[in-house]
Amino acid sequence: MQKVIKIGILGAGTVGSGVIKVLEMNRRQITERVGAELQVQQVLVRDSSKVRPFLDGYKVTTNIDDILNDKEIDIVVELMGGLNPAKDYMLKAMAAGKSVVTANKDVVAQFGKEMFAMAEEKNVDFLFEASVGGGIPIITPLKQCLTANQVTEIMGIVNGTTNYMLTKMTECGSDYDSVLKEAQEKGYAEANPSADVDGLDAARKAAILASLAFNTRVELKDVSVEGITKITPDDIDYARNLGYVIKLLAVGKDIPELGVDVRVHPVFLPKEHPLASVNGVFNAIFVRGNAIGEAMFYGQGAGSLPTASAVVSDIIDVSRDIVRGTFGRVLCTCYEDKPLCPLDKTESSYYVRLLVDDKPGVLGYVATAFGNAGVSLESVIQTQRNVVDHAEIVAITHRVEHAQMQAALSALAALDVVDEIRSVIRVEQERG
Ligand code: NAP
Ligand code: HSE
Repeated sequence: MQKVIKIGILGAGTVGSGVIKVLEMNRRQITERVGAELQVQQVLVRDSSKVRPFLDGYKVTTNIDDILNDKEIDIVVELMGGLNPAKDYMLKAMAAGKSVVTANKDVVAQFGKEMFAMAEEKNVDFLFEASVGGGIPIITPLKQCLTANQVTEIMGIVNGTTNYMLTKMTECGSDYDSVLKEAQEKGYAEANPSADVDGLDAARKAAILASLAFNTRVELKDVSVEGITKITPDDIDYARNLGYVIKLLAVGKDIPELGVDVRVHPVFLPKEHPLASVNGVFNAIFVRGNAIGEAMFYGQGAGSLPTASAVVSDIIDVSRDIVRGTFGRVLCTCYEDKPLCPLDKTESSYYVRLLVDDKPGVLGYVATAFGNAGVSLESVIQTQRNVVDHAEIVAITHRVEHAQMQAALSALAALDVVDEIRSVIRVEQERG
């Protein structure tokens, strides 16, 4: 008789509904690929009065104990989001001997160590492919396919909502609020979209990627974060005119002598850069390893079915382990304890936009302030676009340490002729 593996799903929103759909749509192939039938035994929701036609015929509960105490359930799939009660439910599920699959970067980025410890103790699987990059395979490649490498750099666009917003603002001149609403309607945004626009969602993903890439525990608190809320249509325009596009980038580097540098911030990317053409909800992640060289992973970073693709693949992986009686083959890979690189030591070029007095000699004062801080300039333009009785100076610097740039900004802010430092955005060099 065909073996049946029973699943409890926690959460039936954007991703939960997609998981049900994928399991139904590809039932025959999945059964053959696993060698067992996968059956959704129960689905946990918060509000059982919501109309959810995709759950017709499924047992729905609002009581987590119905799932935790169900001895027939082998796999719990957490798709509720947020730290609590999601973390608590996952720990309890593993304590009850159930393997866990999740899309929850909040929990993995902050409590990964605790989750792996429980999985190891209870000899169960804990998989989280959908927590980074939506449908893009990146966690399994880092843990398995690229594990022969020493990875020195990982960099990419890892938030679908902000990439969708920046693309629409750049290509269609859409305004910030309406384009955020669109991303929410499409199911890309987090329950609280400030996690997307403030860069926290990308920072959680950066922490997860850096931990896996560099084999050292990087948590959300270790990531320097800046979101897209300060990006203005003027910055987007200047970027276009100077040959760049603005993207929110996650950057992780393992720098010899200095430590691990993990950051999320907007950047000016040259239009020819491979990441510059990653648009809409698409994400892309570069990995540099000492054997493979450079590899790039590209696909839809959010949305119901793409994310469900990653979740269901994890469910299949766990099910194969269940069929063969092997668990916890690839658990925690953070076996080192590397220092964090001090932010002041990180290096970059910068775009700086200043509102200045419109009078002779201003450019000289500004150039001197940069020069005195050891910041050399690659290009400078002065314009009177969109300003009355003032001028704007837009400078692109050469590569400098963060500390030098901060010194230059303090000196600029102290100048009488500088009325406002309007924008400071890092510039990513072209990949050579
Ligand atoms: P969502 O649409 O808001 O769905 C969340 C579901 O969880 C809802 O069905 C909700 O029930 C249920 N839920 C929330 N709190 C609950 C509680 N305390 N008890 C019982 N049920 C609860 O969220 P989502 O977009 O599917 O995201 C789910 C997870 O996937 C999050 O961790 C998110 O970061 C991650 N993720 C999302 C995407 C994406 O594209 N959306 C991509 C990758 C990863 P009710 O419907 O009854 O309120
Ligand atoms: N809110 C997230 C994003 C969902 O926009 O990328 C996928 O993790």
